[in-house]
Amino acid sequence: MNAQIDHALEEIRRFRPSPEFAAQAVADEGLYDAARTDRLEFWADQARTLLQWEKPFTRTLDWSNPPFAKWFDDGELNVAVNCLDRHVDAGLGDRVALHWEGEPGDSRDITYAELTDEVKRAANTLIDLGVREGDRVAIYLPMIPEAVVSMLAVARLGAIHSVVFGGFSADSLASRIDDAEASVVITADGGYRKGRVFPLKPVVDEALEKSAGSVRNVLVVRRGENEVDWNADRDVWWHESVATASNEHEARAFEAEHPLFILYTSGTTGKPKGILHTSGGYLTQAAFTHRNVFDLHPERDVYWCTADVGWITGHSYVVYGPLANGATQVLYEGTPDTPHPGRWWEIVEKYGVTILYTAPTAIRSFMKLGRQIPHEFNLRTLRLLGSVGEPINPEAWIWYRHVIGGGSIPVVDTWWQTETGAIMISALPGVTDLKPGSAQVPVPGISIDILDDDGTAVEGEGGGLLVATEPWPSMLRGIWGDPERFKETYWEKFGDKYFAGDGARRDEDGDIWLLGRVDDVMNVSGHRLSTAEIESSLVAHPWTAEAAVVGASDETTGQAVVAFVILKASQVSHVNDPMEASEELRRHVATQIGAIARPRQVFIVNELPKTRSGKIMRRLLRDLAEGREVGDTTTLADTSIMEVISAQLR
Ligand code: WT7
Repeated sequence: MNAQIDHALEEIRRFRPSPEFAAQAVADEGLYDAARTDRLEFWADQARTLLQWEKPFTRTLDWSNPPFAKWFDDGELNVAVNCLDRHVDAGLGDRVALHWEGEPGDSRDITYAELTDEVKRAANTLIDLGVREGDRVAIYLPMIPEAVVSMLAVARLGAIHSVVFGGFSADSLASRIDDAEASVVITADGGYRKGRVFPLKPVVDEALEKSAGSVRNVLVVRRGENEVDWNADRDVWWHESVATASNEHEARAFEAEHPLFILYTSGTTGKPKGILHTSGGYLTQAAFTHRNVFDLHPERDVYWCTADVGWITGHSYVVYGPLANGATQVLYEGTPDTPHPGRWWEIVEKYGVTILYTAPTAIRSFMKLGRQIPHEFNLRTLRLLGSVGEPINPEAWIWYRHVIGGGSIPVVDTWWQTETGAIMISALPGVTDLKPGSAQVPVPGISIDILDDDGTAVEGEGGGLLVATEPWPSMLRGIWGDPERFKETYWEKFGDKYFAGDGARRDEDGDIWLLGRVDDVMNVSGHRLSTAEIESSLVAHPWTAEAAVVGASDETTGQAVVAFVILKASQVSHVNDPMEASEELRRHVATQIGAIARPRQVFIVNELPKTRSGKIMRRLLRDLAEGREVGDTTTLADTSIMEVISAQLR
């Protein structure tokens, strides 16, 4: 009887594609067969079919100098033309590219013809500001159409964009501007968030005071109508320059390996890494996965990815993938709960969204609020749901499918990283049987394996470290200005295999389950944060003597930042109340790095657990932060220390 129940449960937890969905699906088994037969020819074929090349390539992959890959390197294309002009030339100029929705409820529909026009004008403005091929342009904008326009205008010129998420602080912005030596910053006066205008231009002003001075001009979109200081030698209004610029711009083609963008992400050290992506391979895999993983039918779908363009998801699945595929999509400026908790579902209803791509942390917060909120809206247009950023627990998967998706539509869990550029592991809707909680299988043309710590492949069922065993088209081409760090971080551990930094398990069906990071990188609400970066921010505060940060599991955000801080003896007498100190330090991290890095808790302690060689044992602090029995303490220099610390937390 029990075995029968188990069996039934197993069956429930596996979902076959419905025959109706399968019949109309973009993807089919043939993709796997083609990729297995000749992986390189498979990608060459995708690159030729999905993109328009000014000069066709004859070489697919050059891996003669690993880990520096070149894809399609004798071909030439213009990425912006692929996302814009070619659709207009194909007669699709009147198709809506963006249904933009501002947080306060203002909205704009922008067609492919209009978007192309605007990008050409922005490109001409950037030329006037001296931007040339290979120059770096920092973009610090809210989720408004000008963010998409700016990225494409930079790409059109063969310049390199570095988008910095609008929630990052002046310090974080300054260090990114300096690392890339950006010559222009594109920003807005402010944007809307949680019903208020948050200022951006003032943050840019502050960042430029701190920065080394590479920036010549700041191009400013008027959005928040908040007051801003103006430096007439440096600052230029978008509505005075772009609006009046010529809408004629002849785009030239660039080599497939021409740099497209830099995007900073947290690593295991305090300094963020500038992940570098190039043109032809990146666009091929972004377009391929966007089409096949999301079953995109561009003539009828309304697609919505809720990510901000400040993250890789916004680059690949708001800008490059969807626009290369000629999709119609929603772009939303604000937060999910403003002005009311049903805001997202209202947007789905308003635009008839058919494909929704979001993060588990959002799904879990909606779960907490209850199903009556989404049920007030008509969500029946939805036909596919996607998830990204962290493992989606089976309960959240089921809730997403039932409450948002009405019970029978596919949910795809997509695993990838800033570094991989595009989706690497995911089911293909209409093809793969779905299994809640597992990201499942590599997409066609991608080679993934699970290795032991010593590099031996884990055969069959079992756990280990996730690697990519073959180069892939959208892989990072390096870390900006630091080839050594690129090799060390990803390639030193296993030689010719890419080490992703994630733990993973393969189940009896061969499906892959992601188990979280194995390094000192935390995942908070699907965003990457480095323990080292937050620790150095804490230590930079005049009160702090020492700090240790851990990622503790959190019901809503996946992980949360928890810090343990020892105050300087000289300061202890000035600090009246440990609560006050902990509040001050939380605020400090938020101003230094950005609100996403603000610790959930800062515990003021007198000691930290250390090994005899002086290494902080974060594992034990994580036990404390998660309210667990403290694990093995035998390697501590002072084995009684954990009792002392936990007594202090009580
Ligand atoms: C890290 C990459 C890729 C866009 C968003 C995050 C975790 C990402 C999943 C998933 C389990 C996931 C990994 C990865 N991650 N997607 N579907 N299941 N974990 O990009 O900021 O570069 O972070 O996010 O730990 O290494 P990112």
